[in-house]
Amino acid sequence: MKLINVVAARPNFMKIAPVIRAIKKHNNRVHSSLDTHHSKLYAVLVHTGQHYDYEMSKVFFEDLEIPVPDIYLGVGSGTHAEQTGNVMIEFEKVLFKEEPDLVIVVGDVNSTLACALSSVKLHIPVAHVEAGLRSFDRTMPEEINRLLTDAIADFLFTPSPDADENLKREGIPEDKIFLVGDVMVDSLLFNLDKAKKSNILRKLGLQKELSTDRCQLPTDYALLTLHRPSNVDDRESLHNILEALKRISTEIPIIFPIHPRTRKQIEHFGLQDYFTKFENRMSTIGYGLYYIDPLGYLDFLKLMIHSKFIMTDSGGIQEETTVLGIPCLTLRDTTERPITIKQGTNILVHNNSERIIKEACKILDGKLKKGNCPEIWDGRSAERIVEIIVSDR
Ligand code: UD1
Repeated sequence: MKLINVVAARPNFMKIAPVIRAIKKHNNRVHSSLDTHHSKLYAVLVHTGQHYDYEMSKVFFEDLEIPVPDIYLGVGSGTHAEQTGNVMIEFEKVLFKEEPDLVIVVGDVNSTLACALSSVKLHIPVAHVEAGLRSFDRTMPEEINRLLTDAIADFLFTPSPDADENLKREGIPEDKIFLVGDVMVDSLLFNLDKAKKSNILRKLGLQKELSTDRCQLPTDYALLTLHRPSNVDDRESLHNILEALKRISTEIPIIFPIHPRTRKQIEHFGLQDYFTKFENRMSTIGYGLYYIDPLGYLDFLKLMIHSKFIMTDSGGIQEETTVLGIPCLTLRDTTERPITIKQGTNILVHNNSERIIKEACKILDGKLKKGNCPEIWDGRSAERIVEIIVSDR
C-alpha cells in the first residue's frame, strides 16, 4: 500500500512526525513477522513549501527527526486563492506520477484542503488527521479548510469526542469517523525529555546564573504567540492587545517568539515602540515585552514547560498547555478545541485589553484554573491511525 503524507506549514510538522514513526513501527513488525496479517506501507513525504523559512520549517524537521521530504513543491506564500490553487496544481502532478492508494493530510492550513481536493478529484482516498474541529467562525480561513476537507475525506481521525459530534451533525457517515486522540500530544510526550535538555533558558537569560551548577532556577516569565489575521492584520486589534501586554509586562517579563506575518504587521503599523530591546545573553532578564526570532520545536517546548503562563492565538498551544498543566489565555473569541476549556487550563480572553489584563493578574495572584488531560491524549494516536488504515485493506 502506497501512501503520501503531506506537510506544509509549521503546525503540520509535529502532527506528521508521529504518523511517520507509527508507519515505521508497523513496517518493522511486518518485517520481523510479528504481524503476518498485513503488508508493509510505503510512504512518500511531500512538503508543499507553504512555510519555507528555516525557523518555520527546516528546524522542525531536525528537532522532530522527520526525514527529508521526498518531494518539495516550493509553493510559498500568496493570497488564499493563489496559495491553494498553486498547491492543487503542483500536488496533482505528484498524484499522477506516484499513484498513491491513500493521501494523509493533517490540520487545517490551505495546503491541507488543496491536497485533499486534488486527491479526491482523482478518486484517491484521503485521510484527514485532526478532523472534526470547529470554531463555528467562518471568517477564519482554517474553519473553511476544516469544513471542506472533512466533507470530502474518507477517513476522519478525530482528537476528541466533540469533534465526532460535529462531524455527525454535518451528516458525515459514522463509519468514516475514528476517535484516535491527538497526534500533537503524541509529539509532545515523545519529545518532552529531549526538550528538557534545550539550553534556551540560559540563552535568553531566563535562568538565574548562579556560580554553581547545582541550583539553576528559571526566573518567572510569560510566553506569547500571536499570528491570527484577526489579531495582527487589523491595527486596532493589535494595538488593543499590545496595550494589555505592555501593562502585564510591568509585572512579569513576556517572551514573544514572533511569527513572520506578525513582525511585518508590527513594522507596517509602526508599533515597534511597545517592545523592549532584547539584549542577548543577559544574566537575568528585566520586565518588558521582548520579541525574539521564531523558535524550533524543542526550544519552544522547554520555554512552555517553565513559563508561568502562556498567551496565544494558536490552536495547538491550547492543547499543549492543557497536557502540561500550564495556564493558557487564548486571545480569540472562539476555539475549535473546546475540550481545553471544559477540561483543561485554557481560558478565552478575546482581544479585549481589560479581560486579558484581568485574567493575567489572577494568575499572577496565584489563582490558577485547574485542569486535567483528556484520557485519550495518551501518546498513541498515530499508532491507532496506522492500525485503522492497515486493517481497512
Ligand atoms: C498559516 C496557516 C495557519 C497556521 C499558521 C502557523 C493558512 C490559511 N494559515 O498561517 O492556519 O496557524 O500557518 O504558522 O493556511 N511567511 C514567511 N516565512 C514563511 C512562511 C510565511 O515570512 O516561512 C510570511 C509571508 O509573508 C506570508 C505570511 O507569513 O505571506 C503568511 O504565511 P501563510 O502561510 O499565508 O499563513 P500563516 O499566517 O503562516
